[in-house]
Amino acid sequence: MSRTVRRPAPVVTVDGPSGVGKGTLARLLAQRLGFHLLDSGALYRLVGFCARRAGVAFDDPAALAGIARELDVEFVAGDSDPPLRARVAGTDVSDDIRTEAAGRDASLVAAVPAVREALLARQRDFRVPPGLVADGRDMGTVVFPDAEVKLFLTASAEERAHRRYKQLIAKGIDATLTRLSAEIAERDRRDSERAVAPLRPAEDAVVVDTSSLSIDDVLARALQVAAARGVCPRP
Ligand code: C5P
Repeated sequence: MSRTVRRPAPVVTVDGPSGVGKGTLARLLAQRLGFHLLDSGALYRLVGFCARRAGVAFDDPAALAGIARELDVEFVAGDSDPPLRARVAGTDVSDDIRTEAAGRDASLVAAVPAVREALLARQRDFRVPPGLVADGRDMGTVVFPDAEVKLFLTASAEERAHRRYKQLIAKGIDATLTRLSAEIAERDRRDSERAVAPLRPAEDAVVVDTSSLSIDDVLARALQVAAARGVCPRP
């Protein structure tokens, strides 16, 4: 009797610090490859958002992990930005979790090991055929260590603050470059120095410095790497 060994669906991971363009690249790659999309940062943002709304203390790991485990979230494809709208218990909270304050709360809850553990299986459940593009901080190191393609994007802190500033102003949101730079530096520090799943490239990741590249250049590079690893036909 022959047994077929089924290979898991292919995964492309896109990791890197805040404001480096991971979300945009992941969305375009998912479109080009016809893959599903996982925005893992949204899960941490949702845990922070629900914790604050429920009045849970940010120094209570058990309560935060409980929120992560019971998160009643549904991602719905939309044609606006972000491409996947997040609904908690039926209410669209996508805009609430995109603020700078929500990003800060996310990085606080993300440093809690029990929260990361509680979100692990939920993230792996996104790996279904025909494949997945997963964006975050530890996609290539912890969540999908066997991913076929691992990309790690970098850019100088000044460049990232500048991009974020332009994004916010374009959305009509008030921002100052000095404050954004300070917030990005603080989030980078917390994400890189935490004991569990710190931000760092996987050993087998391809590191792409996007400081002086357009999004089209970054996408072309990513597709080249994916083709070399057999995930898509050569461009
Ligand atoms: O990517 P995004 O800015 O939405 O992530 C918000 C925060 O969530 C990050 O600053 C980081 O602290 C945390 N995060 C994480 N691991 C991931 C994705 C996000 O720790 N895989």
